Amino acid sequence: MKKIVLIRHGESTWNKENRFTGWADVDLSPAGVEEAQAAGRLLKAEGYVFDIAFTSTLKRAIRTLHFGLDAMDLAWIPEEKHWRLNERHYGALTGLNKAETAQKYGDAQVLVWRRSYDIPPPLMEPGDAANPARDARYASLRPDEVPRGECLKDTVERVMPYWNERIVPAVKSGQRVLVAAHGNSLRALVKHLDGIADDKIVELNIPTARPLVYELDDAMKPIRSYYLGDAEEIARAAAAVANQGKAK
Ligand code: 3PG
Repeated sequence: MKKIVLIRHGESTWNKENRFTGWADVDLSPAGVEEAQAAGRLLKAEGYVFDIAFTSTLKRAIRTLHFGLDAMDLAWIPEEKHWRLNERHYGALTGLNKAETAQKYGDAQVLVWRRSYDIPPPLMEPGDAANPARDARYASLRPDEVPRGECLKDTVERVMPYWNERIVPAVKSGQRVLVAAHGNSLRALVKHLDGIADDKIVELNIPTARPLVYELDDAMKPIRSYYLGDAEEIARAAAAVANQGKAK
């Protein structure tokens, strides 16, 4: 039996302000730093050790990984950063307040933008200063790989090659793997692992900095999965994520 641990970054400054973030490279809030450290302490207390870590190219995930590993005294393990683990690109919604957007367009429209499988948000203008095509870290991407807005389906399509080519071989070789990523890049992975139907994925919300453990068989099929920590508190945190997109 193999195990892999997935963790969403801790609360970011834009999570705190309830703004659509996507590929905007915002930092952790002070509460997010504490969440990441607490996750590391919990993993350590539960006896988890890791041989390798994978994360995105966005600092809220990278720093969550580092605070978590520090708490486990595992800052030395190899880590790989890749844009394919980035958050789903939120297009022209990037930076907008989620509740205000729901006030303007309605809760139902915001739910479609946030949680539907194949309906993308409005695209970011090519000339937008935040277009990733202008960002040096994405200079090696082909033009068709640089998103200006993604639905979850688009995110699944770019996460899966990385999962299959980098993460699966590490798990299969017996390495104990930690993945620090984002709400929607992890929804993409969970959809794949649990075989969640396109129309059911709307219900899945991933709370910040709660370690999600998958026990896998040799074919990488889940035997079982569970969050570490208090189940009621985690359910409340997931419900709070769902409610971020409702008009206040
Ligand atoms: C964002 O990019 O705004 C968040 O990290 C995830 O947002 P969501 O829960 O609204 O999809």
